[in-house]
Amino acid sequence: MSSTGLQSTPTPGTAPVSALLLPGRSSYNGPTMTTHPNAIQANATQGTATPTHVHLETFGCQMNEYDSELVRALMQQNGFVFTSEQERADVILMNTCAIRENAHNKVYTHLSELKKIKRQRPLVVGVLGCMAQNLKDELTEIQPLVDVLAGPDSYRQLPMLIRTALRAQEDGLEAKGLAVDLSEYETYHDVVPDRRDGVNAWIAIMRGCDNFCSFCVVPYTRGRERSRDAEGIILEAHQIAAQGFKQITLLGQNVNSYRFDDWDFARLIRAVADVPGIERVRFTSPHPKDFPLPLLEAVVSHPHICKQIHLPLQSGSDRILGLMNRGYTISEYRALVDRIRSLRSDIVLSTDIICGFAGERDEDFEATYRLIEEVRFHSAFIFKYSERKHTIAARKFPDDVSEAVKTARVTRLFDLQRTIAYARNREYLHATLPVLVEGDAKRSAAQGMGKSDGNITVIWDKQAVPSHPGALLSLAIYDASSTTLYATLPPAP
Ligand code: 5AD
Ligand code: SF4
Repeated sequence: MSSTGLQSTPTPGTAPVSALLLPGRSSYNGPTMTTHPNAIQANATQGTATPTHVHLETFGCQMNEYDSELVRALMQQNGFVFTSEQERADVILMNTCAIRENAHNKVYTHLSELKKIKRQRPLVVGVLGCMAQNLKDELTEIQPLVDVLAGPDSYRQLPMLIRTALRAQEDGLEAKGLAVDLSEYETYHDVVPDRRDGVNAWIAIMRGCDNFCSFCVVPYTRGRERSRDAEGIILEAHQIAAQGFKQITLLGQNVNSYRFDDWDFARLIRAVADVPGIERVRFTSPHPKDFPLPLLEAVVSHPHICKQIHLPLQSGSDRILGLMNRGYTISEYRALVDRIRSLRSDIVLSTDIICGFAGERDEDFEATYRLIEEVRFHSAFIFKYSERKHTIAARKFPDDVSEAVKTARVTRLFDLQRTIAYARNREYLHATLPVLVEGDAKRSAAQGMGKSDGNITVIWDKQAVPSHPGALLSLAIYDASSTTLYATLPPAP
């Protein structure tokens, strides 16, 4: 695959270039108590003691958002209560991302803010996720700020680590909790995530990655690839449907290599898409090197599998793809795109591109530019190469493209992609599309927002189009920008 690049809607266009380069960050804004199934045990263990309030911030990809749902579930089972207000929290946790340097820097900035709070009152600080896995060596440098570090395979130990840190703090002691062992087996198959979205539910069908793309830190932070049992995933899909969710997104670092007994990904996605009540199934990300025909057939033909494929390209130069250890050539990638489009021309394609990888010459970049012009993706995430500790590239290839050249290349590609996305989106003018309603538009509560089957953002005036989250509407597109389709009710027949 690609990623932790488990992004939602790629949004080239009106956002500044930096917005494409930075991973998202979000904190929980919902209620502070839940009636989630995992909470049943919480009441039993909580007793009458004042609950410990926890604030959790999530940085990075969809897999991290999903992991935060697991963390909330595991903590609630143990009597902890989540709060959206940092000021009320006895414990502040950050679920972190290590994929690029700016993700790293964001966490450091946030940690220095927490340092100020910790000087004023008792507070337990925990760093979770990919950076925790990477940060263990640097822990001494940031003492006494961080009390607990827990890597992606260690969340079951988190309640115990936090309790120990709280007790130590009460006793005026310093105790560091560290759980960063990577597991070959952990899939959290028995943990029901604390989901709050209401329309889309994520399911991680596998964890870790064995691909070792030379630029990527994921195999080192998330460990070896392992798949979750298919029966458990399908059962969870039924429960998700019963809770009223309309969409499921299947997550994995490379979904094509999903294997469990005699299940592969094509069989699994069909089974999930057959679950009554689930209108849409998405997945991210497949790897272009081993895209199986049965999966393509499932996308093409199953009415509930979205006609959208995220196909991370990374570079348009064979030489650079070789250095990246991506396992495909440009002509193979091109043949895959042609095959997809020959089976269904309306499939929306998006991609990831890295600019300024070690050794990338002008002619390599020009090849990427030309390929993007040729393929005309609906959207693209465009990143500057950022050398990551432990990776093959960090050990073998000097990071020799200057920051100025990286910026210039990213800007050129961004401008190109914006033009292409605008033209692509304008192809929908006057079409009537099925749109799954998500809620209010970010910019105005007077507007509703949803997604097309191809995952393009659609916006409408709520007075003209009454809607509620989870509704599947048929809307007529009357305008389009590079990021958004504008819709209204179609004319009466
Ligand atoms: N530098 C820049 N981009 C990276 N990605 C992964 N590792 C790096 C890195 N070291 C990008 C890839 C991947 C996406 C999720 O993040 O494009 O597909
Ligand atoms: Fe994706 Fe390659 Fe990183 Fe695995 S190593 S997560 S396939 S970019």
